[in-house]
Amino acid sequence: MAPKLASFFFCLLSISSALELVEVHGSGIYPIVVSTWSFREAVRAAWKSVNDYGSSAVDAVIDGCSACEELRCDGTVGPGGSPDENGETTLDALVMDGTTMEVGAVAAMRYVKDAINAAKLVMDHTEHTLLVGEKASIFAISMGLPGPTNLSSAESIEKWVKWKENNCLPNFRKNVIPAKSCGPYHLYDHASSVIESSCKLAGGESSEKTWYEDGNQANIIGYHNHDTISMAVIDKMGHIAVGTSTNGATFKVPGRVGDGPIAGSAAYADDEVGACGATGDGDIMMRFLPCYQVIESMRQGMTPRHAAVDAISRIARKYPDFVGAVFALDKDGVHAGACHGWMFQYSVRNSTMKDVQVFTVVP
Ligand SMILES: *[C@@H]1O[C@H](CO)[C@@H](O)[C@H](O)[C@H]1NC(C)=O
Ligand SMILES: *[C@@H]1O[C@H](CO)[C@@H](O)[C@H](O)[C@H]1NC(C)=O
Repeated sequence: MAPKLASFFFCLLSISSALELVEVHGSGIYPIVVSTWSFREAVRAAWKSVNDYGSSAVDAVIDGCSACEELRCDGTVGPGGSPDENGETTLDALVMDGTTMEVGAVAAMRYVKDAINAAKLVMDHTEHTLLVGEKASIFAISMGLPGPTNLSSAESIEKWVKWKENNCLPNFRKNVIPAKSCGPYHLYDHASSVIESSCKLAGGESSEKTWYEDGNQANIIGYHNHDTISMAVIDKMGHIAVGTSTNGATFKVPGRVGDGPIAGSAAYADDEVGACGATGDGDIMMRFLPCYQVIESMRQGMTPRHAAVDAISRIARKYPDFVGAVFALDKDGVHAGACHGWMFQYSVRNSTMKDVQVFTVVP
């Protein structure tokens, strides 16, 4: 983790928006599995499913992401991680079928640990795309998934208790009073004049600062806070699917939904073109639909490498300090990655490789 962190801080300090990339050509022989990060076990599970058992791309994505949920990949996928302000863990997941363009997703889902399976139930057994909150939980349980389940773990509760002891800092609030302690929070304008004037007297500190200007708050965005698994599979038939699963941002405001369950943001697939997966500061990335951008750029003829770099650059131009990455995979098995603000890794398994291979992309 040390080189990763060193690279991360280097990126934060570097003023220029340096972008780097790798691109690797495949021979176009399916199947292939690609995933964000070095989630080797998840990729192995998807590979076994699609290669050994001949599963469809959608089923392999479900198997791969489920493995990550069970393993609690990095503590940021599945139950037991990323407590919100109230200490609760909620889950976001998405699955997309690049043949039919069908999408199923759940967001801020409580009490049910099988997030990607819940997303698949939405896709397969409703006409909808996205179900949220407790209603998503009720749906998932009614369709046969286990629950209600306590999604907290000893670790997530401990993390949350420590955060409370640290005055609930860092947090995702802005322009509120109190700025440096636990809530309840009020709008700045509506706060009592006594509090307002005492704040102004205390050095004229503006509550309107970005995450990255404050070392304390910058800590909130790091490798263990935005490690969404986003996975793409091309099956033996050449069909493409993508899936994502995450427990979101640690100490998020309850109700927050990130990029994970948003089609076109954390993942997108189209059999005619390829697939894309994204990870990073979801609150910013979802404003740009980077994976939709990647697919449409490749449709217009860009290589995966250029499409990935272009999608990241579009965000970096507006948010030079954002942290994020995408991988792009075209329908011929050519893959590439691009990142900004941190070092990125993605994992690939195809029939030439003896095992999962991890590719590193530096900003
Ligand atoms: C598998 O990936 C490797 C590295 O990306 C590439 O050299 C090889 O050609 C690929 N094999 C197939 C069958 O696509
Ligand atoms: C859920 O699990 C956590 C961690 O084990 C525990 O602290 C908490 O009390 C549990 N909540 C309920 C409602 O059982």
